Amino acid sequence: MMSTYAIHWGELDLPRFLRDYWQRRPLLLRQALPGFRPLLTRTQLFALAARDDVESRLLQHSGRRWQLDHGPIPRRRLPPVTQARWTLLVQGVNLHVDAASELVQAFRFIPDARLDDLMISWASDGGGVGPHQDAYDVFLLQAAGRRRWRIGPVADPTLQPGKPVKLLSHFEPEEEIVVEPGDMLYLPPQWGHDGIAVGADCMTYSIGFRAPPQDELLKEVLWHLADAQGDGGPIYADPPLRPGEPPALLPKAMVRFAAQAFSRLRPDAAVFETVLGEYLTEPKPEVWFDADPRPAAELRATCRRGGVRLDRRSRMLYTAQAVFINGETVEQPLSGSALLRTLADQRALDAGQFAAANAAERALLLDWCAQGWLRPDGADVPAGSGAPGRGDG
Ligand code: SIN
Ligand code: CO
Repeated sequence: MMSTYAIHWGELDLPRFLRDYWQRRPLLLRQALPGFRPLLTRTQLFALAARDDVESRLLQHSGRRWQLDHGPIPRRRLPPVTQARWTLLVQGVNLHVDAASELVQAFRFIPDARLDDLMISWASDGGGVGPHQDAYDVFLLQAAGRRRWRIGPVADPTLQPGKPVKLLSHFEPEEEIVVEPGDMLYLPPQWGHDGIAVGADCMTYSIGFRAPPQDELLKEVLWHLADAQGDGGPIYADPPLRPGEPPALLPKAMVRFAAQAFSRLRPDAAVFETVLGEYLTEPKPEVWFDADPRPAAELRATCRRGGVRLDRRSRMLYTAQAVFINGETVEQPLSGSALLRTLADQRALDAGQFAAANAAERALLLDWCAQGWLRPDGADVPAGSGAPGRGDG
């Protein structure tokens, strides 16, 4: 797995970044990607925001008034670019644009399980999202124009009341930084920040890494366990009933029965792996895949020639016991497949690796190709799958 992008760590190197900064403290890397040029033009970004399979938001403010609109946002609903203090935020650009997906690959020194997405913002002069904190680790890569960041730890997390977005009431920044194209600012979770565009045409790329809160995982585990019970379990039976009890009283025996349901759950380690694997590879709600309509024989021949590549929207993870893709667990006998693990790590298999697949692996890979999860490499992508600019507004 190689990306065309290599981060320049300046005085640092990757091991030192991971040891001293990651999840600990902010880092400004001047010219982290020297000569970086935006992957999409403003027009292409605006066109993405108009699509109904793309998550986007428009945020405008004047004085203390903030207005938030959710996408899809057709071009005619965006303010003029010369109007100050507005920003358009387009989420999941790596799912829709190959070049953006490629950029995200440069950050795979962090486990895929943590990756959320690449968000791109465009801002007019003075535009920004206001002082806030995120539950994410984020790399803020300046792609075009200039932005003034004010950052600092948050002593008081109180939010401004009645605002459509979460804005800190009493943010006291520690540092002020003006970034230029190619500069990148890393912020650990909960670090306060407020970025304001200096001049128009300010584009910032946020590569975000999400840490799922434990209670969210608990819910997933409980859903999974409840689901796996299957047969419905025993049915509640009344204890000996006595005449004269108040009719509206909830029977204690019924409460005990509900508590017993809980003690029937005996999750083993494999359950937690399955839940996490399926949960973390589940595509976002806006994501759908473009099925490949070509006949199986043609797909096979194309894969033999050029190998295969995971579609940019596919999420794949594995453990020692299991392989997960797009919210599903790979079934036996392929859960031990080394080839599938190679595919997950490299996000591709070359022609030689594809040729080495056994019959079951090949059948599965071709099935994934048909579903659009995997693409025969170097071959034509069927119509309809996303070059930027395929707007509907
Ligand atoms: C932005 O790009 O304007 C906001 C990014 C962030 O603050 O997380
Ligand atoms: Co933020």
